[in-house]
Amino acid sequence: MLASKRILLIIGGGIAAFKSLDLIRRLRERGAQVTPVLTKAGAEFVTPLSVSALAGQKVFRDLFDLTDESEMGHIELSRSADLIVVAPATADLMAKMVGGHADDLASTLLLATDTPVLIAPAMNVRMWEHRATRRNRATLDADGIMSVGPNEGDMACGDYGPGRMAEPLEIVAAIEAALVDGPMKGKRVLVTSGPTHEPIDPVRYIANRSSGAQGTALARALSALGAEVVFVTGPADVPPPEGVQVVRVQTAQQMLEAVQAAMPVDAAIFAAAVADWRVAKESTSKMKKTKGGLPKLDFAENPDILATVSQLQKHRPRLVVGFAAETDDVVENATVKRKRKGCDWIVANDVSAGTGIMGGIENDITLISEEGVEDWPRMAKDQVAARLAERIAKALT
Ligand code: C5P
Repeated sequence: MLASKRILLIIGGGIAAFKSLDLIRRLRERGAQVTPVLTKAGAEFVTPLSVSALAGQKVFRDLFDLTDESEMGHIELSRSADLIVVAPATADLMAKMVGGHADDLASTLLLATDTPVLIAPAMNVRMWEHRATRRNRATLDADGIMSVGPNEGDMACGDYGPGRMAEPLEIVAAIEAALVDGPMKGKRVLVTSGPTHEPIDPVRYIANRSSGAQGTALARALSALGAEVVFVTGPADVPPPEGVQVVRVQTAQQMLEAVQAAMPVDAAIFAAAVADWRVAKESTSKMKKTKGGLPKLDFAENPDILATVSQLQKHRPRLVVGFAAETDDVVENATVKRKRKGCDWIVANDVSAGTGIMGGIENDITLISEEGVEDWPRMAKDQVAARLAERIAKALT
C-alpha cells in the first residue's frame, strides 16, 4: 500500500524522536521513500547520520543551505511528497504551524506546502493539556491537518498521562489511512463502540454483552473509504481497527468527554452499547458480604451521548447515526427513538435471546431515516458495515 509513496518526514525536537528512526525503517520496509528533515532541536535527540543512514537519503536541515536550494528549493521539497508527516510534532512546532511561521526549514516547508499533513504530537502531559496547545489543536484540526495520538502512559519526564507519541506502527497505519483515496477522503468521522463498564466498587462493575464487533467493522469500513476515523471504544472483546485514532474509555461519562473532545466531525456513528445507569456512589473499597442483608445500590442516570450530540447547536455533525438494540417492537421503538434523540438515522436490530446477534458475527438490521424504513437481509457484520459506510459516504457528498 505504501509502495513508491513519497513521505517527507519532519523530525521535531523531543525525546520521542528516537521512535522516528524506527518509523523510517517501518516505512521503508513497506516500500515508501522517506525524505527526512531534521529540525535543529531534533538533532539534539537523534543524529543526522542515523536518520540519513536509515532513510537512505540525505537529511535536509537548513533553510539557507544553498546546495539544497540549487538541487531542490524548499517549495519543491514541500510539494514533491504524497504526504508530510511531522513526528514528533512538538508543542512549539504545532504553535508555529498555527501561526504560519517560516523561520526554519521545517516551518517553511509546512507553510509552503499544498500536500496533506499528518502530525504525531508528543510532549509533556501539562503542555498537551495547556489551553494554548488545546487551542492550537483545534485550529490545526479545523485547517484539515490530520493527527495520530498522542497516547496515554508513562512519560520520559516521569509524569503520567496523554502526551506520548503514537507508536511507529500506529503512525504507519495512520499514514496508510491518510493515503487511501476514496469517497470519504477529507471527512472526519467519529464512531463509538463496545460496552461501557460502570464501577460498583474497585473490583465490580455493571456491563453488557456488546462485543464491539459492529462498531469496529464500521470504523474499519469508513477508514477503508478514506475517512479519518476517531474510534471511541469501551472495553470491547474485539481489538480496535488499525489506522484509526483509538480513544479507550471505561464509563459512559468518559465516553461523553472523549466524544466532545473529538468534535467537530462530519459524521458521528454511535454503535456503543452505553449503560443507561451507573451506580450513584461508587464504593472506594470492596463491598463486603454482611450477615442478614443484601447491599443496596442506588442508581443515577448516565448522560445520553447520542442525544447530546444530535441536539448540539454548534458543530452538530452533518449526519448523526444511532443504533437501537431492541427485544420487542423493534421498528416502532426505534422510530420513536430517532425522533426523541434527534438523530438522522437509526440502525435498529433485534437482540432477543436466540437471534445470536449480540456478540455474534451476523446482524439483521432495519435502517430508519426520515425517508422511511428499510429492511436489510441478515448478513455478516462486516457486510453491514461496508454497506452502511457506503451510505454514509453518499449522504456526505
Ligand atoms: O436509548 P438507547 O440506549 O436504546 O439508545 C441506543 C443508542 O443511543 C445507541 O446509538 C447508543 O450508542 C446511544 N446511547 C448513547 N448514550 C447513552 C445511551 C445510548 O450514546 N447513554
